[in-house]
Amino acid sequence: VPFILVVCSTYNEGNEGDMPDNAVVFWRALSAADAPHLDGLRYSVLALGDDGYFDFCHAGLLIDERLAELGAERLADRIDCDIYFEEAAEQWSAGMLDLLALEVQTGEPEAVADPPGAEWNRRNPFEARLVAGRRLSKEGSQKEVRHYELDLSGSGIDYAAGDSIAVQPENDPELVELLLRRLAIDPGTVIDSVPLRELLSLHWEIRTPSLELMDVLAARDPEGELARLVDDRKELERTLYGRDVLDLLDATPHLTFQPKELPGLFRPLQSRQFSIASSPLFKPDSVEITVATIRHGEDRERRGVASTFLADRTALGETVRVYPQPNTSFRLPADDVSVILIGPGTGIAPFRAFMQERKARDSSGGTWLFFGDRSRSTDFLYEDEITAWLEDGTLTRLDLAFSRDQPEKDYVQTHMRRAGAELFAWLERGASVYVCGDAERMARDVEEALIDVIATHGKRDTSAAKAYLDDLIVAKRYLRDVY
Ligand SMILES: Cc1cc2nc3c(=O)[nH]c(=O)nc-3n(C[C@H](O)[C@H](O)[C@H](O)COP(=O)(O)OP(=O)(O)OC[C@H]3O[C@@H](n4cnc5c(N)ncnc54)[C@H](O)[C@@H]3O)c2cc1C
Ligand SMILES: Cc1cc2nc3c(=O)[nH]c(=O)nc-3n(C[C@H](O)[C@H](O)[C@H](O)COP(=O)(O)O)c2cc1C
Repeated sequence: VPFILVVCSTYNEGNEGDMPDNAVVFWRALSAADAPHLDGLRYSVLALGDDGYFDFCHAGLLIDERLAELGAERLADRIDCDIYFEEAAEQWSAGMLDLLALEVQTGEPEAVADPPGAEWNRRNPFEARLVAGRRLSKEGSQKEVRHYELDLSGSGIDYAAGDSIAVQPENDPELVELLLRRLAIDPGTVIDSVPLRELLSLHWEIRTPSLELMDVLAARDPEGELARLVDDRKELERTLYGRDVLDLLDATPHLTFQPKELPGLFRPLQSRQFSIASSPLFKPDSVEITVATIRHGEDRERRGVASTFLADRTALGETVRVYPQPNTSFRLPADDVSVILIGPGTGIAPFRAFMQERKARDSSGGTWLFFGDRSRSTDFLYEDEITAWLEDGTLTRLDLAFSRDQPEKDYVQTHMRRAGAELFAWLERGASVYVCGDAERMARDVEEALIDVIATHGKRDTSAAKAYLDDLIVAKRYLRDVY
């Protein structure tokens, strides 16, 4: 192959090199000590990322450097894209197409039609009416998980089970007022033609501090906590966990800011994604989502932007700005293929969609669900539906892990190990494995459990078990949607 074009995002959740799942096996081969020389290969890398992360576009950078190290020649410098990637990505694509057109004789390019609903995006979101909302976690739960339904009629959005939807939230007005007070700047002050209050309410991320803000605070307060931490990324992340912009500003009460400095301190307010919990076969004109409401803090309640925008600040009948986030790799296989679904907590969301889909299609493949949360009496999300699916055969097997209902912690991975022989038998018969939910601990523990199960019941050593899992990844039979 004379050319390769690499488009790669970064996910810092435990994979080597922060690779997204579908690049893990590729990266392992590319980074191996015995990787072949690639003289004569020409390439370019478009890296996708978010410069709010310390390791901005890390995966793309590694691939770019490794290809060069192996002797390949850059067609063009790597482009690192932030969340507003469209323009840079289009330029890169156009440049690459021009370069390749000079090299490769192609006919007229085929026109590719946009998929339906493609006109809705971050710059042009659809106003979806909130038509239902209810609490799923029961009285007494330590969590507040809610179910919402958003009406998509008239949008043309044509989603599939496995997709997500992005919600563009508005900031908490209480936090906006507190920040205005701390900044002591008139809320009507116009910055880049927008009044400050509006910038803080609708346009800037005022909850999660930006790296720019941390740098500025560290530089202007050299004796302060941030200055000590700013070079120790792990410690910084640990110390700042849960603290918002106001916490950081309150820790440096002597610092003042001019209006013109502010745009450099805040990142744009980003939309949040939610896995769609309904199947279009069931409800073509709306999407349902399962959202954990984030609230914490004692002196002052700190609130997740989007989850409390939905829970507290959007009344039924009001609209929410949304756009589709297709996930074409997180799809159900053919109806006769069995699936193992591992989705504790809000990780259940896409699997509710999958089960609705499998029921509607009367799929013949087996469906095995691992679900868990803290307590059965309060946190068994969608209990009635899941129980009914088990009774009518939509679900072949259900394993429940409620961590706090017995003295010893019980998690989905505990159940996977316990049911290891059967789990391995399902894999051997061609089942696909899906994992959704918490990336930080759950997804890692589940992967370890899978490797253990494969090693124990497949009678392999750990490295052969890992290779078995790699084969599942390549065959698109081990798919994750974790956050
Ligand atoms: C593909 C994808 C699918 C997703 N699907 C779902 C889904 O189905 N359901 C769902 O609920 N979420 C889902 N998420 C996560 C979702 O997008 C948001 O990140 C989440 O709802 C929090 O957003 P927020 O705006 O409410 O909170 P933010 O304002 O973004 O605040 C979140 C931050 O709060 C802090 N925090 C959280 N809890 C605590 C605590 N107890 N103590 C201290 N600090 C804390 C953490 O620093 C965290 O980063 C998904 C994410 C992705 C990428
Ligand atoms: C869980 C998670 C972790 C991420 N980690 C990083 C990171 O370390 N560095 C970075 O530049 N971007 C990071 N991102 C941002 C993604 O790379 C970025 O959103 C990218 O555009 C996603 O593209 P994709 O949806 O096509 O995979 C992360 C996103 C998520 C959801």
